[in-house]
Amino acid sequence: MSLVVLEGVSRIYEMGGERIHALDDFSLTVEEGAIVLLVGPSGSGKTTLLNMISALDAPTSGSYHFGGELVPHDDVEAMTAFRRRNVGYVFQFFNLLGDLTALENILLVQELTSGRDEPRAKELLALVGLAGLEERFPSEMSGGQQQRVAIARSLAKTPRLLLGDEPTGNLDSETTRQVMDVLVDACRTEKITAVLVSHDHALERYATRVIAIDSGKLVEDRPGELATVKGAVRQAGRSSKKALKTLAEKARQFSQR
Ligand SMILES: Nc1ncnc2c1ncn2[C@@H]1O[C@H](COP(=O)(O)OP(=O)(O)O)[C@@H](O)[C@H]1O
Ligand SMILES: [Mg+2]
Repeated sequence: MSLVVLEGVSRIYEMGGERIHALDDFSLTVEEGAIVLLVGPSGSGKTTLLNMISALDAPTSGSYHFGGELVPHDDVEAMTAFRRRNVGYVFQFFNLLGDLTALENILLVQELTSGRDEPRAKELLALVGLAGLEERFPSEMSGGQQQRVAIARSLAKTPRLLLGDEPTGNLDSETTRQVMDVLVDACRTEKITAVLVSHDHALERYATRVIAIDSGKLVEDRPGELATVKGAVRQAGRSSKKALKTLAEKARQFSQR
C-alpha cells in the first residue's frame, strides 16, 4: 500500500521580494514498510520535504495524501493532530530532556500522545538494546546510547512513519552503524515506514530505496542495498543474532526475579 503520496508539491518561500522554490513540482510515492534514504546537497530541499511529509508546513501548491486520505494543510491544529498521531521524529541532536531518565523521557512522550504504558516503554528500550539502562540520565550515557533512547522515544506512540533529519549526523561511523542497525531493526519489527535524510552514503546499505533531491526536484530514485537479496539476508542475519541476544537477556532477568 502507498503510505505517502505527494503530487506536484511546490513550496515557495518569499524572502524580501525573492521567491525561493524549496520544492519544485515534486512528486513522490512511498510504499508502506519502505526505508527511504533521502540525499542531496545543502539547501536542496530535504528539510522542507520532511516538513511537508510531517505536516509541520504545508505545500504552496500540490496535494499530499497519507494512507489514502488528504492531509490537513490549512488548519494548524488539524496538522498538529495528524503529526502527533502518525509521525515519529529523530533529530540530529538528540533533544532528550536532561533532568529525566531514559525511561522518563519515553513515558513523557507517551503521556503526551498515546497514554502512559510503562511495560511498553521498557520494551522499547530493550528493543534498542538499552535494557538495564532505564534509570540513566542522558548525561550518564554515550552519544550512541542517547540517540538510541531518542529512537525508542520516537517509536513510543507507534508512528506509522518515522522521519529522521541527519539522525546519525552527530555520531562517529562505528556508533552510526550501531544506531542504524537498531533503527532499521525497530522499523521492521514495528512495521514502520521511514524517511531518513543523510549526507552519509554508507547509510545506503540500510535503505530499501535511495532518492536524491537537488534544487527542490527529484533527480534520482533507485533501490537501496536492503532491497537486494544480499542486503536483506545480511540484515536478517544480524537481526536474528540480536533477537537471540535479547532473548538470552530476558531469560537472565527473569531468572533473577
Ligand atoms: N523558512 C525559510 N524561509 C526562507 N527560505 C527558506 C526557509 N527554509 C528553507 N529555505 C530555503 O529553501 C531551500 C531549501 O532549504 P532546506 O529544505 O532547508 O534544504 P536542506 O535541508 O536540503 O539543506 C534553501 O534555499 C533554503 O535557504
Ligand atoms: Mg536540512
